[in-house]
Amino acid sequence: MGRSLATALPLDFFVDRHLTEPARWPVGLTAQKATIDAREARMQPCRGRVALVTGSSRGLGRVIARRLSEAGADVVVNYRKVGGRSEAQARALAKELVERGSRAVAIQADISQKESVTAMFQQIAAEHGRLDILVLNAARAPFKRVDELLTRDLLELIETNYLGNIYCMQQALPLMRGRPGHVVFISSLGSRFVLPSYPLGSMKAAMESLVKQWAAELQDRQITVNGVTAGLLKTDSLMVLRQYWPGVGRLPASAFVELDDVAAVVRFLCTDAARGIRGQNIVVDNGLCNDILHGSPAG
Ligand SMILES: NC(=O)c1ccc[n+]([C@@H]2O[C@H](COP(=O)([O-])OP(=O)(O)OC[C@H]3O[C@@H](n4cnc5c(N)ncnc54)[C@H](OP(=O)(O)O)[C@@H]3O)[C@@H](O)[C@H]2O)c1
Repeated sequence: MGRSLATALPLDFFVDRHLTEPARWPVGLTAQKATIDAREARMQPCRGRVALVTGSSRGLGRVIARRLSEAGADVVVNYRKVGGRSEAQARALAKELVERGSRAVAIQADISQKESVTAMFQQIAAEHGRLDILVLNAARAPFKRVDELLTRDLLELIETNYLGNIYCMQQALPLMRGRPGHVVFISSLGSRFVLPSYPLGSMKAAMESLVKQWAAELQDRQITVNGVTAGLLKTDSLMVLRQYWPGVGRLPASAFVELDDVAAVVRFLCTDAARGIRGQNIVVDNGLCNDILHGSPAG
């Protein structure tokens, strides 16, 4: 008997007929196909899904976009700034994902502008006709004490980091109708700890609250909404951070969390295996919060 039925068949049998003529398969082959399908579903749990990652030209968003693409999703890479490095990086990422076999596209949109968000979702609807995964990653904020915030700082803070996410969600929901969907908001430890010159923390806290609200409102649909609260990351914003928290340069490597470790949790929350997790904000900080507590008088 030596070879199994599957290995005895030519490859084109699987490429062509296994998709089109299952009724004609021998019983053993049906089992083989089921095994292959199950393995593919494990390796690529987002296969056939369309994902939008806001602010994915660089930093954490870029890594999340790569991980979702590896999980089988078609990915929409979003960036804000027209021209320059960010746009070039977004286009390069979309090209890289296409070359690896994903369907990917880079779309410019400033999430703080409602019309810009509407135009991005019109493009997604025209291109894919659906959305299954929304990762609310984009963020942009001044590093200032609250009493130093100018009106334009306050507007940027709220329009990008609160309203912008709501605009995206409002546009995404109609494209997610009738199928399982996953929304993940990227938060930071500033939502729960006081960090100097970090007014963004108050927006993250508001959004973590909204994550729970959305999860409850969407309880009856197959859409999960969760947050991932990341610890310190080595991205472009670390350069800016150094100016305001000089001590950040002296922190041990263990104080930082790998971008990949955060992206892995986001990826999991975007799969059907995580359908029971709703309205949670999961901290992924390489244990930084625990360390802070150990170092405190209470620890
Ligand atoms: N860095 C950290 O230590 C840290 C820690 C915890 C949580 N986080 C969170 O993780 C997420 C990613 O942070 P990061 O450090 O990777 O950020 P980053 O390197 O500064 O990248 C930000 C990304 O968001 C985009 N973006 C900014 N404003 C936008 C807007 N209005 N519309 C569309 N896209 C916009 C940027 O595009 P352009 O380049 O075109 O502006 C860029 O692609 C953020 O939510 C952040 O708060 C970061």
